[in-house]
Amino acid sequence: MLHPEPVQKVWDPNVIRSDFPLIAGLSGIYLDNAASAQKPRCVMDSMTDGAFTRYANVHRGAHRLSGLATASYEGARARLQSFLNAPGAEQIIFTKSATEAINLVASAFAAIVAPGDEIVVSSLDHHANLVPWHLLRERHGIVLRWVDPDAFGNLDPTAFADAITPRTRLVAVTHMSNVFGVLTPLEAIVRLAHEKGVPVLADGTQAVVHHAIDVSALDVDFYALTGHKLYGPTGIGALYAKPGWLERMPPMLGGGEMVATFGRDHVEYAAAPHKFEAGTPPILEAIGLVAALDYVEGVGRTTIATHEAALGRHARARFAAIPNITVFGDAEKPGPILTFASAGAHANDIAAILDAKGICVRAGAHCTQPLHQMLGFSSTCRASFAMYSTLDEVDALADAVEEALAILK
Ligand SMILES: Cc1ncc(COP(=O)(O)O)c(C=O)c1O
Repeated sequence: MLHPEPVQKVWDPNVIRSDFPLIAGLSGIYLDNAASAQKPRCVMDSMTDGAFTRYANVHRGAHRLSGLATASYEGARARLQSFLNAPGAEQIIFTKSATEAINLVASAFAAIVAPGDEIVVSSLDHHANLVPWHLLRERHGIVLRWVDPDAFGNLDPTAFADAITPRTRLVAVTHMSNVFGVLTPLEAIVRLAHEKGVPVLADGTQAVVHHAIDVSALDVDFYALTGHKLYGPTGIGALYAKPGWLERMPPMLGGGEMVATFGRDHVEYAAAPHKFEAGTPPILEAIGLVAALDYVEGVGRTTIATHEAALGRHARARFAAIPNITVFGDAEKPGPILTFASAGAHANDIAAILDAKGICVRAGAHCTQPLHQMLGFSSTCRASFAMYSTLDEVDALADAVEEALAILK
């Protein structure tokens, strides 16, 4: 599943940190990367450069600048195609977020499903890959069939196969939990679902940040991602759809630049991907996303994953020595996300004390209420690492959590 590394650089966290102005200038510690990652300077520079040298609206103008902007925007699509190893650039639709990408598929399935049809979902998933299917339940009478992870957050692919019935129209599942930071067995889920003729949508929002993704090898039908967690700008996400799907799917939004022929009583849509990109798309954000993808591959996907795994292992080792704390997930699979809670202290209070010490973590249910119901905590703390996080920061976190629990006991 791994692409060859385009450039091999010597790993040096200080060099990496100096590429991220906010991180370099921060007096505290940023460990809320699963919510949104900080941006390397090259991302913002590329957007400024795009705005100042080749900006106009895309696909519309008869003039040179529009041609340049269109080339940048379509170039970004081709860049994302290669980043994901998608078979064609036209299989990539730009959206404003992963949330919008998943809703786009849900809106298309609204036209396909009949009352009583089923969609298999997992209680490991983020609300972004649950609420769109709830909307279909409310509005179109579909039935949600739930697959639960085990107590350590592991999903069993055969549970998905068992949940599939002749009425199943789709399996929707995350490729990486935003609570545990561990990859799900997506390849096996896809294989078993396809054996029963059921397509699979994967929420790749977290997975694509930490691992090289090959949508062709995964054979997944839909793959959603968001730019801002991938060190890119906000306001851009993407949907990959396997060849064959987009032709059959109706657009979600109507508007400019998505129509082939227009009549008073008749409209014919443009071919994909333009059919799904009504209105002015995220032009500068696409340029910024390319810079983020180049940066991530330039550092090296394996290099980043190795560093983040070391952070995860160290965090688990340090937290294992803290009394009265529950660390969630599989200790055998330390990921770049560490979620923890204490029966004796509210997660919000722990996070507030950490914040007072300059450490940014997230507290709450992290948009995973079904999972938190299973964990038995309505609120947990989540520390999430990035390529610029360091072992010293993990130590500072562990020390601060220990102090917070001593204060709150
Ligand atoms: C697993 C997962 N899926 C989807 C999303 C939604 O991403 P966005 O808000 O960028 O659409 C998130 C964001 O936290 C996430 O962690």
